[in-house]
Amino acid sequence: MKVGVFSAKPYDRQFLQEVDAPDIDWHFIETRLSEQTLPLAKGMDAICAFVNDQLDTTTLSQLKKMGIMHIALRCAGFNNVDTQAAQRLGFSVSRVPAYSPEAVAEHTLALILTLNRKLHKAYNRIKEGNFSLDGLMGFNLHGKTVGIIGTGRIGAATCRIISGFGCKILCHDPSPNDEVKAMGARYVPIDELVSQADIISLHCPLTPETRHMINDARLSQMKPGVMLINTSRGAMVDTQAVIQHLKNGHIGYLGLDVYEMEGDLFFEDLSDQIIQDDVFQRLQTFPNVLITGHQGFFTREAMTHIAQTTADNLLASQQGDYSAPSFLVTPASS
Ligand code: NAI
Repeated sequence: MKVGVFSAKPYDRQFLQEVDAPDIDWHFIETRLSEQTLPLAKGMDAICAFVNDQLDTTTLSQLKKMGIMHIALRCAGFNNVDTQAAQRLGFSVSRVPAYSPEAVAEHTLALILTLNRKLHKAYNRIKEGNFSLDGLMGFNLHGKTVGIIGTGRIGAATCRIISGFGCKILCHDPSPNDEVKAMGARYVPIDELVSQADIISLHCPLTPETRHMINDARLSQMKPGVMLINTSRGAMVDTQAVIQHLKNGHIGYLGLDVYEMEGDLFFEDLSDQIIQDDVFQRLQTFPNVLITGHQGFFTREAMTHIAQTTADNLLASQQGDYSAPSFLVTPASS
């Protein structure tokens, strides 16, 4: 089975090749999948895609013409796939639903702790022989109110860690999670959560309902000095609105692992280029903003799990077995 792995990085190569799957012939393609790069999929039996590969109606129709009917996402989120079109066209689409919620939850905590205790600044100061503590003061997490929006796998893992810090936890999710309730967390309407939390962390999928969930009105409701963390999908936050609230000092800290327009930036070494995205560059100018480039998932354990599940999904689709929960779209459902 020939599989075209789009957006392939050296680490994808390493972990996918380590999986014991002799029936899969991996073809690593460095470029992102889009209408323009589609010809690179010629001759493949299936496509393996990542978060910024575009699987819209046009791309899917073209893939179908090439006889490629299975897409294996090597990620959990699937907002880059038009699942309705995939279903209509008879595709099978799989993903890796729960490779390591702890990987993203632990990265969320890394952002919170780094922003709060200003470790990124302290690191540079000490390197330069500056041992002054001025401007490095943080706050105790103990006793603070943390708002978790989305309490699925990653949100629940974040609650587990946060509860160990002695924080009060407020949650919002249309499907409350009993495990989270058992930790003492309280489910509240979103307006109550955003107006009461000292730290707000987003863990929802990106859907038409959650796009720009954090907009000017919601930002205005937040406590002055609030810390906002987004490790879910960039477009959950209206970036222009958040910039205004950083400029007027209302938002105290912003930690991002994802960014609305990350498709043109993230996962590439652009260090010798002029970044053209002025919004992203403006974000970088704030001393209280910390950005990482979509690395929440990036642990050895998660990569091993992602590679294994992706290979299992591909082999299952080859055998016409779509019973695993990893399948988002199956030909039978078309
Ligand atoms: P999940 O499906 O287990 O949980 C998502 C939760 O969000 C569900 O409980 C759902 O009911 C809830 N939800 C849906 N709409 C909501 C709304 N309007 N308000 C509040 N809650 C809502 O997903 P999981 O595994 O926890 O992942 C969450 C998201 O994290 C993914 O969709 C993905 O976008 C992102 N992610 C980011 C990674 C990174 O490297 N930064 C890696 C993996 C996932």
